[in-house]
Amino acid sequence: MPVGPTQEILKRAFAERYGVAAINVVNDLTMEAVLAAAEELQAPLIVQTSVKHVEMTGVEVMYAMWAEMTKRISVPVALHLDHCPDRAVISACLAAGWNSVLFDASKLTVEENKRQCIEVVAEARRYGALVEGEIEGFKRTEEMTGDEAEHVQTLETVVDFVEATGVDVFAPAIGNAHGTYKTAPHLDSQRVTDIVEATGIPVALHGGTGMSAEQFTDLISRGCAKVNISTALKIAFMKSGYDFMTENPGKYDPPSIFKVQRAAVKDMAADHIRKFGSVGKAW
Ligand code: 13P
Repeated sequence: MPVGPTQEILKRAFAERYGVAAINVVNDLTMEAVLAAAEELQAPLIVQTSVKHVEMTGVEVMYAMWAEMTKRISVPVALHLDHCPDRAVISACLAAGWNSVLFDASKLTVEENKRQCIEVVAEARRYGALVEGEIEGFKRTEEMTGDEAEHVQTLETVVDFVEATGVDVFAPAIGNAHGTYKTAPHLDSQRVTDIVEATGIPVALHGGTGMSAEQFTDLISRGCAKVNISTALKIAFMKSGYDFMTENPGKYDPPSIFKVQRAAVKDMAADHIRKFGSVGKAW
C-alpha cells in the first residue's frame, strides 16, 4: 500500500504492537530523506507537518511535494498535520489531501475542546481522514518542573472525551515533553495501559526525542502505536550542516551540504524505525 489512510497504518501497528515513526519534516529535503529510510527498511511511516512549516511553505506546495515524492513509493505512508489549534488550517489541509490531523485545543477547556473536536471529527470523516485528540497539552522540555503528573486529567475525563468525540488516537501527557530532555524523563507508562484498556484506541507518544530504546519498547508494547519524533530531525539536519561547514570552511556549495544533511536525516529516521520494531512491516 503506498499513500493510504492513517487509520490502516495505525490499526495494524496497534494490533501487532509495533510503533510507526511519525516524523516531523521541515522542507523537501527532510521529507524525501525520511521517505527514503522507510522505503529502504520496508516500514510504514507517518510524515508530520507543523502548522509553522505548512504556513511557511504553503498548503498547495507542501501537498504537491508530498504527492510527487510518494508517487512511486512502495511502503504505506500517510501525511499528518501535527498540533493544530487553527480550524482554518485543519480545513485547508484536509481539503488538500492530508490523511490525518491533530486537533490541539488543549488550551481550551475540556468541554470546549470536546465540542469543537466533534466537529473536526465529522469534517475529517468526509475525507476519510483520522483525528488525533489531546486535552492536556505538552510542555517544552525546558519548561518541565517535575510536577507534570499533577496536570493530567482523570481517566474518566479521557474516556468521556474519546467516546464523545470519536477520535481515533489519543495523545496523553505522561511526563513527556517536546525538545531535548536534560535528564531521562520519568514516564507514567501505566497511564498508557490504563487509557488503552479503557478506550480501546491507540495512544500517540509525543516528545519521542531523547527517550531510551527501553522506554520506546515498553510504551509501544502498551499501545503507543504512533511515536512522534521532531527535535531529533532538526538536530540531525542542522548539526550535519554545521559540521560540514566547520570541516569545509569556505565551501559554499549547496549540493554538497544537502548531501550530508540528507544522509544524516535518513540515518536518524532509520534508527528510530528500527527501535520502534517496524522494519519489514510494510504490506
Ligand atoms: P520531540 O520534538 O521531542 O521529538 O517531540 C515530537 C512531537 O511530539 C511532535 O508532536
